[in-house]
Amino acid sequence: MRDDGKSISMLTAYDFPTAAILDEAGIDLLLVGDSLAMVVQGHETTLPVTMDQMIYHAEMVGRAAKRAMVVVDLPFPEGQLGIRRSVMCGARVLKETQCHAVKLEGGAEQADRIEAMVTAGIPVMAHVGLRPQNVHVEGGYRVKRDRKTLVADAVAAERAGAFAVLVECVSVEVGQAITDAVKLPTIGIGAGNSTTGQVLVTNDLLGLTRGYSPKFVRQMADVSSIIHDTAVQYRQAIADKTFPGEKESFDVR
Ligand code: KIV
Ligand code: NA
Repeated sequence: MRDDGKSISMLTAYDFPTAAILDEAGIDLLLVGDSLAMVVQGHETTLPVTMDQMIYHAEMVGRAAKRAMVVVDLPFPEGQLGIRRSVMCGARVLKETQCHAVKLEGGAEQADRIEAMVTAGIPVMAHVGLRPQNVHVEGGYRVKRDRKTLVADAVAAERAGAFAVLVECVSVEVGQAITDAVKLPTIGIGAGNSTTGQVLVTNDLLGLTRGYSPKFVRQMADVSSIIHDTAVQYRQAIADKTFPGEKESFDVR
């Protein structure tokens, strides 16, 4: 798609029905993101989600996707425990789910693991810029500005055999510089408009996330309100005994 000058769309998915809808809508790539720790499990960071839990969700999403490519995050700290551990986790994704690839937070420092997984037959998307699994080392979530390091990370990921690189929370200029520096498709989130594609957390896009929303989110729907209002309607219909009606009830015979 990058060679053809086409923009790539990517969204997160964590369950069967949502993944099926996103797939039918023509989204190119689905990500079983470790963001599920926050938007599904209700944790403060992405750190608590386990490999077993990632597999549980990846299995549902992989089964739902008919045409989208499905990428699964290696959760903290699986991608930082050496070559063998990364290959074992990547192999679990390919053996136990119908998903196609893994994403590993990192670039230059993780190049040995990217290369080992690709060599083993596991396609890898790298993830440079803001790396949410690093939140405690960084002391928070901030825009990454060290252009030289960020470009070097993407170049190292490309050399190691990654098929794409996700770029999170960098300036428009850095997003452009990274995209210019590699032939790989770059998938941006808060990385400006010159990356090959864009990704968002689906719950943020739909207005289903509680509390803080990062600057890079465009909330295109208000699904929280739909769920809230529908639940209130349902409660009231029960209270005033208009539900169930004749149409929702069975006859005597
Ligand atoms: O886990 C996630 O949702 C991500 C985002 C960058 C899309 O990795
Ligand atoms: Na992630």
